[in-house]
Parts: sequence; C-alpha cells; structure tokens
Amino acid sequence: MGKTALSVGVIGATGLVGQEMVEILDERRFPVASLHPFASEHSAGATLSFQNKDVSVKALRIGEKDVFAGLDLVLGATDSKLARAWVPLAVSAGCLVIDNSSAFRMEADVPLVIPEVNGHLLSSRHHLIANPNCSTAQLVMVLKPLHDAAILRRVSVTTFQSVSGTGKAAVDELMYQTQAILSFKEAKREVYQQQIAFNCIVDWPCDPITGDSEEETKIIAETRKILDIAQLPVFATTVRVPVLRSHAESVHIETEKRLSANEARAILAAAPGITVYDDPKRKIYPTPLDVVGQDNVYVGRVREDHAGGIYLWVVADNLRKGAALNAVQIAEYLLKGSNGRLS
Ligand SMILES: NC(=O)c1ccc[n+]([C@@H]2O[C@H](COP(=O)([O-])OP(=O)(O)OC[C@H]3O[C@@H](n4cnc5c(N)ncnc54)[C@H](OP(=O)(O)O)[C@@H]3O)[C@@H](O)[C@H]2O)c1
Repeated sequence: MGKTALSVGVIGATGLVGQEMVEILDERRFPVASLHPFASEHSAGATLSFQNKDVSVKALRIGEKDVFAGLDLVLGATDSKLARAWVPLAVSAGCLVIDNSSAFRMEADVPLVIPEVNGHLLSSRHHLIANPNCSTAQLVMVLKPLHDAAILRRVSVTTFQSVSGTGKAAVDELMYQTQAILSFKEAKREVYQQQIAFNCIVDWPCDPITGDSEEETKIIAETRKILDIAQLPVFATTVRVPVLRSHAESVHIETEKRLSANEARAILAAAPGITVYDDPKRKIYPTPLDVVGQDNVYVGRVREDHAGGIYLWVVADNLRKGAALNAVQIAEYLLKGSNGRLS
C-alpha cells in the first residue's frame, strides 16, 4: 500500500469509544486521507465532525461484502458479537484492524497490545490487533515498570468502574435513574441487573470453579497475556460505581525484590504514560473527575504494607488510555516503525 495518509474506517463510530477515536485521530493529527464512520441502521446519515468538516455515518448492513474495500486501517468499537461479524470482513479486504471488543483478545495469533508495555509485538505481519479491556489497560501500565524493577509475585485489584465503560446506554441509565429517584419516580433497569444510581454493583459469577465474573476473568487473563507471565497470580474484584467517566482501581502487589513506597513512586514517575499524583502531606491523590480527558494513567496513595507489599490507587480515563487512545497509539506505533506507511 505504502501511502502516507490513510483511508480510515471506524466501526461503531457513534458509540462512546468510536466518537472518542474520531476525536483523538483529529486531535493527534493522525494522517487521515479520508474517514469512514460506520454504525447501525439507526445512525445512518448522522454526521460526525472531523477536521472541521461533517462526515456522514454509513450503516453496516448484513450481506454487504465490499464495505471495507479500499480502506487501509479500520478501528473496531462495537460489542464482540458485531466484531465477530465485521472484523474478519475488514481483514479479508486487506485492512489493518485494531479491535476494541473482547472477541479476539485471547486468540493466540492476535497480539493484545499496550504500546508502552508490549509494543515490540507489533509488526506488519499482523492484520488484526486487539486492544485490551479498559480496566486491564490502566492496571498493566502500572504493573509493567514495577515488574521490570522488582518482579511481580502476586497482584490483587479491586476496580471502581464508571458506567461509560459499559457504553452509552449505561450512561443514559445512570442519568435516568438518578433523575427518577430524585423525582420520587421508579428507577427502571435495562442495562444493569441492579440499580446503579446511588449504588455499587458487581457482576454475577461466570466461572464455576473460581467464582469470578466475566469482567474479572478478562482482567486476569489479559494481564497475564500482556505481561507474558502465564502463571502470574492475579485476583480481581470488579465493581461498577455511579461515576460517569474514568475508572479507579485499588491495587496491591507483592514483588520478589522488596520496594519502598518512595522507590515505587520513583519507578512509576519515570515510566512513560504515567503521572504520579501523590502527596500524602498535601492530601493529593487522583479521582475519576480529575483525569477525564487525560491521556496518562494516574497513580496515588502509594503505600507499603508491613509484609513488603505495595498498595496503589490507579485512576485513568477509560475512554482514552482504556480504549480509543490506546488503539490510535497502536496505529501510530506501527506507522512510526514503517516510516509512516502501513503495508
Ligand atoms: N467504553 C469503554 O470504556 C470501553 C473500553 C475498552 C473497550 N471497550 C469495548 O469497545 C466496544 C464499544 O464500546 P462502547 O462503550 O463504545 O459501546 P457503545 O457506546 O454502546 O457503542 C456501540 C457502537 O456500536 C454500534 N452498533 C450497534 N449495533 C450495530 C449494528 N447492528 N451494526 C453496526 N454498528 C452497531 C452503535 O451504533 P448506533 O449508535 O447506531 O447504535 C455504536 O456506534 C465494546 O466491545 C466494548 O467492550 C469499551
């Protein structure tokens, strides 16, 4: 192909991740020759703003086979069922596909990539690259430099995940339920099985042996795959909280080499894509609201436990490093490694 400006498709361009992708492509001046946003029938003809122009959204219709012909890069931002239907068509049309769904993440021949962590896996021989789950991305960004310095022995994480991590219908549900409750009306539930407004909820267990939920299983498996440590003991409890955007995580690690809190802070401060925002004396630590729209993963409340472990509070914008930004960074990494050409 060898072009320096690319024809770029975004599948699910009207969703939370898809819209963020379009914004990030624009903001980072990614070399886009033409943008092709795709969504459901419901959004056909809607427009998105890109490079100060309106671009029309096209519906993806079952049976249309040549819809991706001529595109160089396709960013996927639909659920995994739709990704299984459309991503293989884009790959067979010769596009490089970076998919955000969980459909292909654990396939052995599909790299699951965070450029700062395992970007070395990216090469022009891959036509499909998977983007990790939002909670995994911010966790692994922090684990990797600590592992390089002290070798991880065990990781335990409890997440506080915002509703935007579930998609736009969940954002609407939190807003709707909050307004309904404050107006003494019934808080109808459609997305989550329990009320999310004024509540915290956990997913149902899906693994009959471990009792882990689907989200917990994803974090455990994806963390091991990205860090390339198949047997790393990882324990996760995922909690959905009534926050609109950005996920927080309470993380505890044990390492082979004992680290002090100051050493951990220094390691993290030197790592790419991480901001240490931690000043116990001034009571400074990151909250979800602080990091909305930010690219970096923020870390605070770094503390040692009496047995040599480290506690961390890790907060990031789930729609940026947790999804859209990471996908665009993968494409940028590939372009950089091939002198600005995808082939
Ligand atoms: N949200 C996050 O923080 C996050 C982070 C990492 C990964 N992910 C993953 O990224 C994916 C997208 O998540 P999201 O939060 O952006 O979801 P979302 O807000 O619900 O958006 C879903 C998108 O899929 C489109 N779509 C629905 N049905 C379709 C159909 N039949 N044909 C074509 N397009 C269709 C929607 O188009 P319409 O607007 O026309 O309905 C919309 O553009 C999911 O797999 C999710 O797990 C999300």
